[in-house]
Order: sequence, then C-alpha cells, then structure tokens
Amino acid sequence: MPETVSFAHQRHGSSIGQPITRRDGPDKVTGAARYTADVRPEGLLHAVMAVSTIAKGRVAHLDVAAAEGHPGVVAVMTPKNAPTLAKSPDEKDNPFAFRLDLLQGDHVRYAGQPIAVVIAETLEAATEGAALLAPRYVSETPVIALGEGDLLTPPAVGAGSPTSEGTGDLEDGLAVADSRLTATYETAAQYHNALEPHSSVAEWDGDRLTLYTPSQALWIAKARLAGFFGIPPENIRVICHYLGGGFGSKGFLSPPQILGVMASKLVGRPVKLVTRREQMFGPVGHRAPTRQTLTLGATRDGALTAFGHHTLTQTSSYDDFYEACGLIARHLYASPAISTTHEGTRADIGTPIFMRAPGEAPGSVAVESALDELALELDLDPLELRLKNYAEVEPITGRPFSSKALRECYAQGAERFGWAKRPKAPRQLRDADGLLIGWGMGTATYPAGMMQGEARATIHADGTALIETSAQDMGQGSWTVLAQIGADGLGLPAERVTLRIGDTDLPNGGLAGGSTGTATGGMAVHNAASSAIAGLAGLATNDPASPLYGAGNAGVTARDGRLVRNDDPTRSESFGEILARAGRSSIEAKGQGAGEPASRKAYAMHAHGAVYAEVKVDPDLGQIRVTRLVGAFAAGRVINPRLVRSQYYGGMIWGVSLALHEHAVHDLRSGRIMNANLAEYHVPVNADIPSVEAILVEEHDPHVNPLGIKGVGEIGITGTAGAIANAVWHATGVRVREIPITLDKLLG
Ligand code: MOS
Repeated sequence: MPETVSFAHQRHGSSIGQPITRRDGPDKVTGAARYTADVRPEGLLHAVMAVSTIAKGRVAHLDVAAAEGHPGVVAVMTPKNAPTLAKSPDEKDNPFAFRLDLLQGDHVRYAGQPIAVVIAETLEAATEGAALLAPRYVSETPVIALGEGDLLTPPAVGAGSPTSEGTGDLEDGLAVADSRLTATYETAAQYHNALEPHSSVAEWDGDRLTLYTPSQALWIAKARLAGFFGIPPENIRVICHYLGGGFGSKGFLSPPQILGVMASKLVGRPVKLVTRREQMFGPVGHRAPTRQTLTLGATRDGALTAFGHHTLTQTSSYDDFYEACGLIARHLYASPAISTTHEGTRADIGTPIFMRAPGEAPGSVAVESALDELALELDLDPLELRLKNYAEVEPITGRPFSSKALRECYAQGAERFGWAKRPKAPRQLRDADGLLIGWGMGTATYPAGMMQGEARATIHADGTALIETSAQDMGQGSWTVLAQIGADGLGLPAERVTLRIGDTDLPNGGLAGGSTGTATGGMAVHNAASSAIAGLAGLATNDPASPLYGAGNAGVTARDGRLVRNDDPTRSESFGEILARAGRSSIEAKGQGAGEPASRKAYAMHAHGAVYAEVKVDPDLGQIRVTRLVGAFAAGRVINPRLVRSQYYGGMIWGVSLALHEHAVHDLRSGRIMNANLAEYHVPVNADIPSVEAILVEEHDPHVNPLGIKGVGEIGITGTAGAIANAVWHATGVRVREIPITLDKLLG
C-alpha cells in the first residue's frame, strides 16, 4: 500500500502528498466511463478506413461501385468526393503541424496510409464495403531501411532541440584517455499501440462541429480543425473525458481522427471512425529506429575525458521528425569534451512522432550500455563509474541544476536491490534451476518542463468548490491530482472539490505531454484557486462585520473551508459565511500556468533516477526473463505517491518492452510491417513483469515552478532498458548491441 509521503517540504494537512485512489477508478472499473468509441449519438453511422498495401506510388483504381452496391453502405469517401479543406494538410505553419494524409490526392507515401473511407449503417457493412474497394496501384520501389538514401542533417531534433551540441574537443579528449571505446547500438522501430486506438465521433450542425476524440491537447486539436474546415475555433467543441493511453501519439490529431470529421461532413450525419489495430501501424506515428555510435574516453581511474554520441535516425519522405537520442548526453555525465550530433535518412514510411520519453528512451539504452562496456574495460563497478562522472553542474552550459538528488537515487536503489553483492565478472550467478542471473543498472533522466495552461476555480456558498480546465487524463491521473492541487490552493479537503476536465468548453488546459501536464495544469489550477481565495479574503477583510476585518489578504489563510487570521487563529469565518454576508452564492477566478519560468535560463532542470535490474537467462535456450526491477526516482514534489509510483511502474515496464520486446519488422521490398498485430508485435504481459519497485526519493526544487513539480510520466523508461541490457551481459557475458535483445541474438 502506498503510504503518504512525508517529505520535509510537503504542507501539513494538505491534500498534496496524499495517496488518494484514482477518482475516475470506479467509473472505469464499472464501465461507466465513456471513451470516444462508447459515444453513440442518434443517427450514428460507422466509418472504416481502407489503407494502402503499397508504400510508394499511387492508387490507380478503387471499385467504388462495388462498395456503394453493398446494402448497408451509405457513402464511399475518396479523393474524388472528400470535402474540400480550407487549408492543405501538407501546409506546415508550425513544426508540430505534422503533414497528414487526408484523401487530398491519389499518391501513396507509406504502407498503411488511408486511401478511402467507407461509411455505412453498421460497422460490419462499413468493414465489408472497405474490403470491396479492391484497390489497384501503380507501385514504385520504396526506400525503407534506416541509413538508405542521402544522409541529411536535421534542422532540429525532437521538440525543436538543437541538432548538435557539445563542449571541448572530442579528439583531444580521446588523445588523453587511457581507455577508449567506440560502439554502435541499434534500436528498433516501435509503433504506437495504446489500448484505445485513435478514434472519433463527429457530429456537424451547420458549420458547428462537436467532436469526441482522444487527445492529449484538446485546444490544439480545436485550432487545427478550425484551419482545415475554415470555421472559427469557437464553432468547434472537442470532448475527451478519458483516453485509453496517449504516449505522444495523441498529442496532435492524426489522419484517422480527422477523416472521421470529414466523413461526417460528407454524409451530414454523425459518424464514428475507429482505427483497427493493424491500422495503428502507419498513420498514427511511431518511434523511429536508431543507430547510435558512442565514442568514449576515460582515464585509468574512470574519469571521462571524451563523450561522443552520434545518432542516425529516420524520418518520412514528406515530413520531419527526428528522434533526439543525443539530448541525454548533454547533461547527464561530466566530461571536458562532449559531442552530440544527429543525422537522418528519409524513407517511405509514416512520419515518426513523439513516443514516451522520445529521444531519451533509445538514447539512454545506448548511453547506459556504453558506460557499462567502459566500466568493464576499466575494471570498475558500473555504479562507481557513474558516480565518478557525476555532473555537479550541467556539463555543456555550466549551469547549476535546479535540484538533483541523483546521488540519493543511486544509493537508495542500490541498497534496496542489494547491488553491493554484485560480482564484477559476468556468468557468476545461477539460481537453483541453473539459470544464469545477471545484475545491471542504469541512470534515469528526463527534463522537467512546463507549458501554458489556464484554469478556473469557483467557490460555492455551501463550502464546496469547482475546478475547471480542459486538461486531459490519458491514464496518468489528472482527474485525481488536479483536484488535490486545487484543494490545496483552496484550503479544502479534496472530497469537497469537483473537477471538470476534458472539454474545450473549459479553459485551455494546455498539452498533456513531455511530462509537463501536472506542472502546467497544476500551476493553472493552484493559481486559480489562490485567486478565488484572494477574492474571498477581499470580501471579508474589508468588511467591518467580519472577524477577519483589517487582517489584509496576506493576513489570512484558507484552511478546511474557513479563512483563518494568521495573527489570531481563533478568529475565522467559513467560506459560506463570507459569501452570504456579501450577498453572493459563489466567487470565481481564473489562473494561469505560466509556461517556462524565467529561472530556466539560470538552471538546468531535470528529474533523475537510478534503475537496477535482475534478469535470468536460460543458458541453453537464451530465453530472458526480467525477475526484479528497482527504480529510485527524484522528481521534485510528489502530488500523489500512489499515482506517481504507478507512472514509474508504467515507464519501467515500457523499459522492459524497449529492451526485450518491441520491434516493428518491415518487409524491405513491400514496405509493409510484417507484424502489424499484437500477437506478433510483442509487448510485455503480466508474466514478463514479476516484480517492480519504485522508490520515491525526496527532492525539493524551489526553481522549476512554485509547486516544485517536475513530472514523472516518461523518466521510468530511461535507465531501465539500459539496466536490463547490462544485466543480460552480466548474466551471459554476451554484449548485444541490437535492441531489443532477443534470444536469437544471444545464441548467435
Ligand atoms: Mo509524451 S511522448 O510527450 O506524450
């Protein structure tokens, strides 16, 4: 059972820090929670996409007549009759306006690209209709493999980070090293497969649109739709109370979501479009494969003299998104010479996109593997090598860290795991069944960011309150933690605070992404709550009839539904009494989550952690099982320890997935993905995850934002995959540099 955290900086009596269970839990387990596909407006039609089976070329023929001849089919949407868009989906007015295939021509740019949408009275009829289209193509030979074609230098990587960054001179650093290591690691393409596929239920009323769709950024979705359909944003309402996972693929609208809206416009009736599982492999984004070369130099005692990290990755033929593996080496280990660079090649694939810990996840597995290889060269314990190169300040910029409890993470994780008992040499441990046991570790890190958001708080005379913001809960816990933060700001128990989220009719809650959602939404909510309390205090402290008269706004504190004088806590008044005397039924205020703090320039801001892994490997069959994972993480203030642990577990499990399971395999001739289903595209199941522990390490950060929140959604993947790769080496003595590590690679 998660206990309440009692970090020194947690406020006594506050709902912040309480392990409250998910407020949306009962609705989810009873089925009362409505996801997009559960929405069934009157007169609903069903749409099914037909997608391309070639990767490059054009659609020469679709048997539209055959599909239209199906008794249940209402319409077939193709480039010939698709609604005209007010703005080309290839027009890029900002780097995150990804180019989308929305039936604007007969070209095919990747396998799995939507080429038509069949709209029918039933899902079955739409499915049959789509099959009747029997497309014929004019096909060209696609380029699919990473590294094929011209090398390019990306204009930027990830979410707009510099392509190259470094300090010192790598060659000089290598020249003075006693030990050098150059190693190339590969990571596989991973395709977004949230439990809930991308879907939409769209309904037009003249030029007004109501859209149910899973989105990590409802207001951004609204703005993009306004552009495509040439209507004012105010005419559009986007609703998403629950997402069955987002992980970056629902940050920005994908083709299936918008095609549903177009289909509804075409037929003038509400339309539901749900992406089929195999259609997730193409139009909704993926994590691109990478080939990373690490060039390290160190003195005999383990001090790094050179740290080079070069990444080759892949983008689509028609758009730009580059996996930013090099970011991690820009701040994690101290070295007088650091070089982080990226190159890319284009391929006839869908455009890659953000996927949980984009850049950092595959970057971390390469960096942590390379450090382990260096530790072996130097005959050092892997943890000792990391401590030896602990970055006291951000190595490239020299900025101090706003907070960094990584040493405590290393220590607490090592203690809990029993790291001190690890033999240095590989193949030393076996269990009673003769399985090889290996122990490995890795450092976890992810930036602490913040974006802009807005919220509204309303205090009612009955001593309850309402918090409203369009924030999205994709499973990470916004439904719960934003209420906790609101309650803290209002001086109310969380049970007396109602939260409304997931609707663009509410104030713009910003984006749930980049591990910034709780900081952004939380600051907006807290500021709104504080402003509402200030309004209430103004009513009381200026009223001679109030016991708070003359105390001034700063002279009262909100506590348990009352405003209390700081100079005399026996004198107080309830929220209801104050409002009643003022002749009001409520008081409301707005608040902002102000985006990046000014202190960002002065401080490097990152969350950190240390992950320790145990694996067992069958010496004859090469079968690998993770048997223990211990992560210790420091990410500023913990709003809800139960949900924070849950986030760490989820991240660490994805780390297992990255290290051992996920691998989208392309047929290089056709460009199709050969394992486009969840039977053959492997993700961990319960049997793969026997024991995961997450330790919450105390950290107080006065700089990231006034609440001290760093964000916990993505860091768990980092560190974990490297720890597992290193544990596999420790078990077997075989270093596999091709991720995921599968048994064939161990036996080869
Ligand atoms: Mo995250 S990859 O920003 O949803």
